Amino acid sequence: MQEHEHALTGGNATQGVVRVGATVRKPWTPATAGVLEFMGAVRSAGVDVPEPLGQDELGRQVTEFVPGRLALELPSLSPADLARVGQIVRAIHDASEGFVPRAFAAWDTLIPAPDDELVCHNDLAPWNLIVGDRWVFIDWDGAGPSTRLWDLAYAAQAFTLSDASEDPKVAAERLKAFVDGYGATTELRSELPSTMARRAEAMYDLLHASHRSGREPWGSMYVNGHGAHWRVAADYVQRSQSTWLEALTARVP
Ligand SMILES: Nc1ncnc2c1ncn2[C@@H]1O[C@H](COP(=O)(O)OP(=O)(O)OP(=O)(O)O)[C@@H](O)[C@H]1O
Ligand SMILES: [Mg+2]
Repeated sequence: MQEHEHALTGGNATQGVVRVGATVRKPWTPATAGVLEFMGAVRSAGVDVPEPLGQDELGRQVTEFVPGRLALELPSLSPADLARVGQIVRAIHDASEGFVPRAFAAWDTLIPAPDDELVCHNDLAPWNLIVGDRWVFIDWDGAGPSTRLWDLAYAAQAFTLSDASEDPKVAAERLKAFVDGYGATTELRSELPSTMARRAEAMYDLLHASHRSGREPWGSMYVNGHGAHWRVAADYVQRSQSTWLEALTARVP
């Protein structure tokens, strides 16, 4: 019997994401073989990620459907929840260490990374975290070489600093919970605030440049609110850096 297909509309970037029973189907791209291999490697190292299930009869990629809600749709996460997410980000990074895809993989990364320390997810954000009985990051298609710092900067900003109207001292408590959960070294902590500012600016630049060049879907996202969101977010991170540097590097008496 042909199983029914339900469109999954939570994302922006990919057309044709559907659920079929306990699986998700997305278009197969030149990056997909490497992405599924990477997901498998992270999973084998003990991190809960959707099981990669290969290719279907229509040539689409198949991964496990994970039940739950997107973190983005939930009331804001508590500091303890944020520490848990930070811990998951750390586990993904540790699991990626030393991963080299068997076949050459044409990674489909959106924003140039400062270095290629390890393969990262590159979009660890509330719009890609399923919260349910399991807490699982989905949407691994943009994975590719990056650095712990660059990937953590994006995740920390997206999970804890996306409300630019908030007093940065208050936001600092959530940021610290996340970074403590990650177990960041002193060096990472001291570089994080300025890197978050650069990372948020890079996101804005991508949307703005896409708007000018007509590159979709980012060009349309720029005018549909994402451009304004990232402009405000990048300015907030830029001007609050010193508050967060102090909070992250303060010595515990
Ligand atoms: N493995 C999964 N388990 C459960 N739900 C999923 C899974 N994969 C995707 N979804 C649902 O489908 C939506 C779109 O999927 P996905 O995030 O992969 O698409 P996208 O368009 O590439 O997203 P983005 O805009 O974040 O790049 C998600 O927001 C989520 O609601
Ligand atoms: Mg997504």
